[in-house]
Amino acid sequence: MDMLPHSFQFSVVTGCTDGIGLSYAKELARHGMKIVLISRNPKKLEAVAEDLKKEFNTETLMIPADFTELNIYDGIKERVAGLDVGVLVNNVGMPSDPQPFLDVPEGEKTYQDMLLVNNLSMVQMTKMILPVMVKKKKGVVMNVSSLAGVSPLPFVAIYSATKVQWYLA
Ligand SMILES: NC(=O)c1ccc[n+]([C@@H]2O[C@H](COP(=O)([O-])OP(=O)(O)OC[C@H]3O[C@@H](n4cnc5c(N)ncnc54)[C@H](OP(=O)(O)O)[C@@H]3O)[C@@H](O)[C@H]2O)c1
Repeated sequence: MDMLPHSFQFSVVTGCTDGIGLSYAKELARHGMKIVLISRNPKKLEAVAEDLKKEFNTETLMIPADFTELNIYDGIKERVAGLDVGVLVNNVGMPSDPQPFLDVPEGEKTYQDMLLVNNLSMVQMTKMILPVMVKKKKGVVMNVSSLAGVSPLPFVAIYSATKVQWYLA
């Protein structure tokens, strides 16, 4: 958190209502940043926004969006337009239970969703937010990867492949 760009107002966190994303949202709020919260469930978003307000007096912007859908990005872009964003946490991720490749139920849909959530979200969100940072010559993009992406793993091969994110920049 020492690298936090205090000259910015907003952080954007995808998949922010549970787990690692929620922890990032809280930690960034603790450091005085306003948070753009993006997840599917509006009720969970509201609960997190309330908690952040109570605990850190944090201002939030809630954007309900499902990253398995392709048509969400124009809407997100409209909501974040003009915001002074200095931190983007590409956290949202879709895991899979260990199974042989051909045994995954509704494999075509499951694999497509996994690629959309784990990879396309990261590319599109970075493309959307990075220009503000480039303009200010400052900012942080964090892509939440996994040990599962360090080398190919049997039975979670697609998840493992989607988590090889070391070279995205
Ligand atoms: N947990 C681990 O052991 C672990 C280990 C290594 C890496 N990771 C990575 O860390 C990241 C977070 O994992 P986690 O375990 O902390 O997640 P988690 O606890 O399951 O939380 C997932 C978050 O993402 C949101 N979400 C899920 N699917 C979504 C979708 N399709 N569109 C929009 N939002 C969605 C959920 O909220 P809604 O349900 O309200 O949308 C929730 O806020 C992932 O990228 C994962 O691959 C996790």
